[in-house]
Amino acid sequence: MTMQVQPVTLVTEEDLLNEAMECPVDRELDTRPLAQERAFAFWQKDIPEDYWHLTAAEMKERIARAREALGRRCVVLGHHYQREDIIQFADIRGDSFKLAQWAAQQPEAEFIVFCGVHFMAEAADILSQPHQKVVLPNMAAGCSMADMADPEDVYGCWDELQEAGIGGVLPVTYMNSAASLKAFCGRHDGIVCTSSNAKRVFEWAFQRAEKVLFFPDQHLGRNTALKLGIPLEEMAVWDYTLPYGSLGGNTVEQLRRARVILWRGHCSVHMRFSVQQIEEARRKYPDVKVIVHPECRMEVVQAADMDGSTEFIAKTIAEAPPGSKWAVGTEINLVSRLARENPDKLVFCLDPVVCPCSTMYRIHPAYLCWVLDELARGRVVNQVKVDEETAHYARLALERMLAVP
Ligand code: 13P
Ligand code: SF4
Repeated sequence: MTMQVQPVTLVTEEDLLNEAMECPVDRELDTRPLAQERAFAFWQKDIPEDYWHLTAAEMKERIARAREALGRRCVVLGHHYQREDIIQFADIRGDSFKLAQWAAQQPEAEFIVFCGVHFMAEAADILSQPHQKVVLPNMAAGCSMADMADPEDVYGCWDELQEAGIGGVLPVTYMNSAASLKAFCGRHDGIVCTSSNAKRVFEWAFQRAEKVLFFPDQHLGRNTALKLGIPLEEMAVWDYTLPYGSLGGNTVEQLRRARVILWRGHCSVHMRFSVQQIEEARRKYPDVKVIVHPECRMEVVQAADMDGSTEFIAKTIAEAPPGSKWAVGTEINLVSRLARENPDKLVFCLDPVVCPCSTMYRIHPAYLCWVLDELARGRVVNQVKVDEETAHYARLALERMLAVP
């Protein structure tokens, strides 16, 4: 194919994210060609060169054509944090729990194209049928929080706890984790949770064990334990950056007393929200409701009116009465969309600067176009495949979660 040489204006990932944050309600869909996103240098680069220069209109037309050719053989899933120019192509959008459940219920679809991040595609692969293939449009779309729990570090922590004689521990992993950690939980009578079922999963765990080891997000773990009435004195934080033998920075006594051992991971997007921002929102709009994701710090969740998963946030605002005001503590693509879709309400982001998830943003429509074109040509690219043994044990932990009432 001959390539057209076009003038290239380089735009940084930050520029694009700032632009997303401005979120004017009547914004046209206008993703720039991939070649103009300077951050592309750090993304998956083995996409054929002609895709680098496709305009928004060209991508849109080609995606529609490929989807038509594939018909019901292919479904496209979009996490709430995806940019608008991706969400428009999704058959379903939702939080990680809803999307995992939905993927498991689409046996007629041969291909599940997951517009989200790597751990979500892995979970879909584990829960899908053997004839189905899960595709992640850009393999560089990971999750920095999930990366904070390196499986080897978690196995080391587990061994240290055993060596120190800390028994009765049940491992619980957040959905935002590698498949091998879900399998680790499956092997050790443990379970997976998402932000929408964490409290029920913790209750399930405490019916079976004295202590919970929770990874990777300390904040979701702490917020959930507090909701169960567990005081901070009965929680320990495991600092995974310390060398083996340091008990994650705890004494044996602290670990014996702890009912919940929290991995010291966090989400940098949700760490941006603060109590000061909530106070400022309340000063400006005394009748505002503050709703945040439970990956936010404890103080922020406690100062908010409510907290919950991305799906909970979207549903709560959609069902709220006209004229209500909402200050939201979560990723900007979702907040901007909620503002657009609820013009009869005031919806704004708590963080006035910027709070994007840069890895979610790596799903540029050019990648979606490429993987769909390839599927339509009979080739599967960017398949996320979890090996059989890992999938078997991870499925155990995921199925335990799906069975929690
Ligand atoms: P949800 O499960 O609420 O969609 O959250 C996933 C996530 O990555 C939030 O940062
Ligand atoms: Fe991971 Fe945070 Fe992005 Fe969610 S918002 S995918 S936890 S980095």
